[in-house]
Amino acid sequence: MALNISPADATLGAVVTGVRLDALSEAEFAAVHAAFLEHAVLIFPGQHLSDAGQMAFAGRFGTLSIKAQPFSNERADGSLREPADPLMQLFRGNEGWHTDSSFQSVSAKASILSARKAPSRGGETEWADMRAAWAALPEAERARLAPLEAYHSLYHSQSEVGQGNTGTRDALRELHGQRTADDDQPGYSTTDADDTPPLRPLVKVHPDTGVPALYVGRHAYGIVGMDPAESDTLLSGLVDFACQAPRVLTHTWQPGDAVMWDNRAVLHRARPWDPNEARVMFHTRVAGDPATETASNKAA
Ligand SMILES: [Fe+2]
Repeated sequence: MALNISPADATLGAVVTGVRLDALSEAEFAAVHAAFLEHAVLIFPGQHLSDAGQMAFAGRFGTLSIKAQPFSNERADGSLREPADPLMQLFRGNEGWHTDSSFQSVSAKASILSARKAPSRGGETEWADMRAAWAALPEAERARLAPLEAYHSLYHSQSEVGQGNTGTRDALRELHGQRTADDDQPGYSTTDADDTPPLRPLVKVHPDTGVPALYVGRHAYGIVGMDPAESDTLLSGLVDFACQAPRVLTHTWQPGDAVMWDNRAVLHRARPWDPNEARVMFHTRVAGDPATETASNKAA
């Protein structure tokens, strides 16, 4: 079957069939890469990638900041985590719109997620097109937002869903403990809560396409020079405006599906599911280019 790229019925996203991601030819990789830049979210049904296959595919896009990370409510022994488990609170936080690693000094380029076990209902992933959102803002609003910068912190975003710094640290430790032995890189911020969080502009010009995108989400807070309450209102209002049809894509997972997205162009979130059902995902992350994804208050 030949490579087929079928755009979704939204401003972003495409379904890609007729390829094996763990055995892409150079020509197929070039087509997938071009589709990634154009559509920002690519859905690959039925790939059933091995850990090594997923890491090898991701590695064609750049340096991996997370090589192999289970995102699962199921422990290795098959038992399910309780909703109060610190790691579950981290997953709960990811039900808010966000972009990956914006709370680290170098934010993410791409994320790859594949499903090993999917719940019978719920647990979808959704993406919102921040390029289309920026383009849809009135020109005067774009001019007002363009010079603004916000801080990004996982401790801030987790506090918004009721998890304190200690719980967030416990969750990160637990997540790190789930890594495969092969993964020797830090996946999440281990930055102490009192360190200065990264500062990032509200608009991000895509380093490969030159297309501007609104760069906000749940990790963003505290716009410089603005009253905190005014900043909160502005940032949440922008997310509410941005994350609406026709700029939203929803994927209902089947085991074996793989998806990749461009963190420089979209926000994403998980949808809730019944915690009595297993949702076992496998995550790989491609680091941003330090030249273009380093926070404005950090050294490149
Ligand atoms: Fe995420």
